[in-house]
Amino acid sequence: MKVLVIGGGGREHALVWKIAQSPKVETIYCAPGNGGISGLAQCVDIAATDTQGLLSFAKDKGIGLTVVGPEAPLSVGVVDLFMENGLRVFGPNKLAATLEGSKAFSKELMQKHGIPTARYETFTDADAAIHALDSFGCPVVIKADGLAAGKGVIIAQDREEAVSAIHEMMQDKKFGDAGSRVVIEEFLTGKEASILAFVDGKTAIPMVSAQDYKRALDKDMGLNTGGMGAVSPAFYYDEKTAKAAKRNIIEKTLAALNAEGITYKGVLYFGLMITEEGPKLLEYNARFGDPETEVVLPRLKSDLVDIMEAVIDGKLAGHTIEWRAEKAVGVVLASGGYPEEYKNGYVIEGLDTDAAEDAVVFHAGTRKQEDAIVTAGGRVLVVTALGETTEEARQKAYTRAAEIRFKDVQYRKDIAQR
Ligand code: AMP
Ligand code: GLY
Repeated sequence: MKVLVIGGGGREHALVWKIAQSPKVETIYCAPGNGGISGLAQCVDIAATDTQGLLSFAKDKGIGLTVVGPEAPLSVGVVDLFMENGLRVFGPNKLAATLEGSKAFSKELMQKHGIPTARYETFTDADAAIHALDSFGCPVVIKADGLAAGKGVIIAQDREEAVSAIHEMMQDKKFGDAGSRVVIEEFLTGKEASILAFVDGKTAIPMVSAQDYKRALDKDMGLNTGGMGAVSPAFYYDEKTAKAAKRNIIEKTLAALNAEGITYKGVLYFGLMITEEGPKLLEYNARFGDPETEVVLPRLKSDLVDIMEAVIDGKLAGHTIEWRAEKAVGVVLASGGYPEEYKNGYVIEGLDTDAAEDAVVFHAGTRKQEDAIVTAGGRVLVVTALGETTEEARQKAYTRAAEIRFKDVQYRKDIAQR
């Protein structure tokens, strides 16, 4: 079978890497891919959101399975387009992807169907939003309704900060149209966990848990980023929490979607806050998380292509998915300056060494330039290692990371440290 993967980050490298292990797969294409992906797949120069371009390519090549990585192509309906043209595609359709594309929509669904989440209100008027702040107290969470590459969430420590966040989103349009509507939310305290689940419209099978490190600097200091590292399993996601999440969040979401007439197929990501009252749902993402995927897929024993086909065919019920007992730790190597200004084009050294067997290096933002691999993004690489214990995995990942060099490389030293 020929497979097309849409996207070009660390998540897509992990997807391509895992899909390449399936005996069913003969050729993999990736659009647009990156410098690391090009070692496993044929990279094609079509943007992830060029849905017509992707469709023509898939038809031309006789692609048997297309896998959508990022949210942007989902939210413009790439899955609907492929399905209308009789192509097999893994991911939710445009309507189902609204679970991620609109926070107001997803919060309303949670509230209506009794899924535990933070108390909230939605606003299209800045004065009304500011007026409502007092009823939430501080800290308070201000979210742009639409897609903002993970940056549209502000945790305001005081009223002044909250007011300026509302002004920036609604009047200065810092996140464009994504901020014409805002959600104001009660601040929850607890420990976070990410649960990704395979969903075929009727059945949801959760994957092993993970935890993402969102802040740029050690000890959770610095700015929010796309994610600076991840660990699987998540430290605080115990058996009791998993049961509560399955019953009160995952199963209820499936029932809610069915009640609303939405058929969700693909991966549904649950961003959880484990509070004293049990797990609460912060958000949905309509796709594999990044960098969670880079620690979850290395633990997957089963054939990913089999699972994806079961999802597309609505045959997930009874499908067994096997996982390795080893723990996984992934460390992101980023460009100096990220998540603010940074430079691209630095040569990366130390990618091929003997130690490579102990750790996988997924490329997030790299480009092939003649015989070299150069930096081409804020997050450049994700180094993932497996170990009997989280500590062993952590040490292996950091040992491997230390062998890799490029100008101004920056990474957190405390990923997966308890
Ligand atoms: P989101 O994109 O909704 O997941 O928000 C990004 C991050 O903001 C989350 O991973 C949390 O760390 C934080 N966050 C979002 N909502 C809340 C909340 N209600 N209380 C506390 N932290 C939150
Ligand atoms: N790691 C969070 C996300 O993928 O949105």
